[in-house]
Amino acid sequence: MYKKVTVIGAGNVGATTAQRLAEKELCDVVLIDIAEGMPQGKALDLVEAAPIEKHDAFIQGTNTYEASAGSNIIIITAGIPRKPGMSRDDLIKTNMNIMKNVTAEAAKQSPNAIIIIVSNPLDAMCHVAYAASGFPKNRVIGMAGILDSARFRAFISMELDVSVENTHAFVLGGHGDTMVPLPRYSTVAGIPITELMSAKKIEALVDRTRKGGGEIVSLLKTGSAFYAPSSATVEMAEAILKDKKKILPCAAYLEGEYGINGLFIGVPVKLGSKGIEEIIQIKLTDSENAALQKSADAVKGLVEDLKKLA
Ligand code: NAI
Ligand code: 2OP
Repeated sequence: MYKKVTVIGAGNVGATTAQRLAEKELCDVVLIDIAEGMPQGKALDLVEAAPIEKHDAFIQGTNTYEASAGSNIIIITAGIPRKPGMSRDDLIKTNMNIMKNVTAEAAKQSPNAIIIIVSNPLDAMCHVAYAASGFPKNRVIGMAGILDSARFRAFISMELDVSVENTHAFVLGGHGDTMVPLPRYSTVAGIPITELMSAKKIEALVDRTRKGGGEIVSLLKTGSAFYAPSSATVEMAEAILKDKKKILPCAAYLEGEYGINGLFIGVPVKLGSKGIEEIIQIKLTDSENAALQKSADAVKGLVEDLKKLA
């Protein structure tokens, strides 16, 4: 029997995540959205693609939570993007309420699941899901670092004209302008990029990585990125479903690691069947650590905003 993953929010990221999960034959998928008929339609469309894509994963679309019962993983992509005229507080407040409701509903049906949060503002939404689920910290994980690192890797590969497969990168911190790409830990075939590119070039790639989400928004005009975000989300789900013990940058609840307390922030973690099985503490230079603490302060600000809005 296949494992079961529920994806909440059947928009761009959610539907593409469902497609990738099914086409990799990792699990059956339950796709939930408030829009009537939409998750049902997308799920049926994906089921009808299965004979051609040659997989037997089943995808079910629904507007309620019963079918999600007993899920191994719950992926939350529900929310609204920022629209013209909307303040950041408006976005946080709306998504906070959506996150609270969908997490509580899904957690009721699948009390042993691992939750992967995707909705923005990512680090703040992790706090909401953590509180609303009542799950232990190892089972509430945010997706951002893999996406930000993949962007950095893509830029490194384009710059050096090498295979993306040879690249490795780490981007830590919050999912925002203060994220912390780490050139010292970013390599091509094991060689740090600091030995392959000038400091000026690296700074340009770091800057493009920090603004990577905005670059896509300004091109698409009607929404934000979803191909790379869904790939990143599925990499996390696969590591958990297959108990791979993979080291990946994810938003995790820190209790003293990196000198940060009571905050979700992106750090390297080991992902396996229990969710976050270890928080990996890598050595940072003073300036890398200062950048991480600055990023943590930005996340703290968002969490304070949440408290005021609650
Ligand atoms: P989208 O607008 O295409 O899809 C969002 C879906 O959520 C819509 O179909 C909407 O009907 C649904 N929804 C809203 N309220 C709901 C509720 N109460 N219950 C169930 N479904 C509900 O947006 P997209 O592009 O899929 O992005 C989703 C979220 O993920 C956004 O908040 C976006 O900012 C975030 N995101 C985060 C990334 C990250 O790195 N963490 C990367 C990309 C997107
Ligand atoms: C991104 O980085 C919107 O958070 C989203 O593409």
